[in-house]
Order: sequence, then structure tokens, then C-alpha cells
Amino acid sequence: MIVQLLYTSRATAAMTDVEWRRIEEISSVHNALNSITGLLVFDDRRIMQLLEGRDDRIDLLFGRIEHDRRNCEVVLRYRQSVAFASYGEWAMRLCRMPDDGMDANETLERLMAPSLSPQLRNLMLSWGGKAS
Ligand SMILES: Cc1cc2nc3c(=O)[nH]c(=O)nc-3n(C[C@H](O)[C@H](O)[C@H](O)COP(=O)(O)O)c2cc1C
Repeated sequence: MIVQLLYTSRATAAMTDVEWRRIEEISSVHNALNSITGLLVFDDRRIMQLLEGRDDRIDLLFGRIEHDRRNCEVVLRYRQSVAFASYGEWAMRLCRMPDDGMDANETLERLMAPSLSPQLRNLMLSWGGKAS
């Protein structure tokens, strides 16, 4: 079964571009090997990641991320089965949000696949609007 999982968290300490790049590199390889796709967006401290793939693999990965000391306050926002992945070609798409709230939502709109459910879109947009 394919699931989409969305969580939000906070960086324990502000991460440098190099640290983000390291997470991106490891994740791209691991996710590709496990047919996991998705999107990770972040600003200064806040993190939101959408993961999609086989349910057992996604739950295993989410367990690792939850215990990864580089982030804290990990909250599961959404987990639903889907017929197909929305980000089939992205093993790990990393994107820094612009500081401005309006621009952040524009950026999110551009990143959101049309096939995402309305509930998932709303959750992502409310994060973009700095609602949390
Ligand atoms: C915010 C955040 C997002 C992450 N996303 C992924 C991911 O999509 N895929 C992945 O393999 N690891 C991801 N990681 C890294 C994992 O937590 C973990 O360090 C990595 O999978 C290696 O695990 P291991 O040391 O147990 O082998 C992420 C870490 C953080 C802090």
C-alpha cells in the first residue's frame, strides 16, 4: 500500500546549507533505494516534509526521523493511503522557504502537485502562512 505522510518539526539548532546538503544527499540515495519520494521545505527553524512510498518503509523512515536529534517537536499531521505517488520523480526535493509569508505560500503552491488531496494542500498552506 502506498501512503503519503506529512509531518512538521523544528530544527534543534539552525542548520547550515552544508548540513542540509548532507541530509539531502543521504536521503536521496536512501529514498531512491526504497522507492520513497517527497518534498522537504524549511525556513530558519521550521521543517515540513511530505513522504510517499510503501507504508512499511515510510513508517520505518518516519521513526528514524522522529528520533533524529537534528530535529525536535516532530508532529505527524497526515497519513493516508493513495493510489499513486504525487512526486514520483523526486527522491528528495529540498526547498528553503522565502522569509516573506506571501512568497512562502506562492512557493508552496508551485511545489504542490495537482493530485494532492485538499486536506493535504490546506495543511501545507497553513504551515506556509506561519500558522503554527
Ligand atoms: C528533517 C530531516 C529529514 C530527513 N529526511 C530523510 C529522508 O527523507 N530520507 C532519509 O533516508 N533520511 C532522512 N533523514 C535522515 C534520517 O533521520 C537518518 O539520519 C538517515 O536516514 C540515516 O539513518 P541511519 O543513521 O539510522 O542509517 C532526515 C533527517 C532530518 C533531520
